[in-house]
Amino acid sequence: ENVVWHNATVTRERRQKLNGHQSFVLWFTGLSGSGKSTLANAIEEHLHQMNCRTFVFDGDNVRHGLCSDLGFGEEDRKENIRRIGEMTRLFVEAGVIAMTAFISPFREERERVRELFGDGEFIEVYCDCSLETCEQRDVKGLYAKARAGLIPNYTGISSPYEAPETPEVRVHTDTESLDESIDRVLGYLQERKLIG
Ligand code: ADX
Repeated sequence: ENVVWHNATVTRERRQKLNGHQSFVLWFTGLSGSGKSTLANAIEEHLHQMNCRTFVFDGDNVRHGLCSDLGFGEEDRKENIRRIGEMTRLFVEAGVIAMTAFISPFREERERVRELFGDGEFIEVYCDCSLETCEQRDVKGLYAKARAGLIPNYTGISSPYEAPETPEVRVHTDTESLDESIDRVLGYLQERKLIG
């Protein structure tokens, strides 16, 4: 109410034309330690070298700022993903290739975000890695703490992760190399003619 939506004359299409590429979101999802951030950053490096405008969102730059008021209970995680979805939509509107690296454990929330985008613009990349491997890596030492009962609602341990059923891209981050995963994602983008 009483909020007027102004139509911009500089449209998304004009921004994309100026940039020389389409904008879309690569939505990485997977357990903590499954390699989402590593892969998102590697893909960004490749796209940047191809003169694409990019931005990576991950827990470190979002949970300390925009979502610093949120924890890891179910409602807070849903709100976390909702905000990230809306923000990503604005970046895509701005002509940027956005990449997100959040566990985003709930199927329904990911589908809700997908609905914010046009056909083919929301590309779900499932970083498929067994809990066993993530736990062995335990880069941040949080799985050990969660097993010891020191962290409540830990994804994979005491909070669910709902794997995507039909992701646009599935990478096997426990069995294939980083380069293979990168090729899989870039291959998909080329196939869809989203990049040259
Ligand atoms: S999400 O579920 O809301 O998408 P997000 O990706 O932002 O999660 O944050 C996950 C990161 O927060 C993990 O990689 C881990 O380092 C840290 N973390 C802290 N507490 C938890 C928890 N209870 N469950 C999962 N990750 C946690």
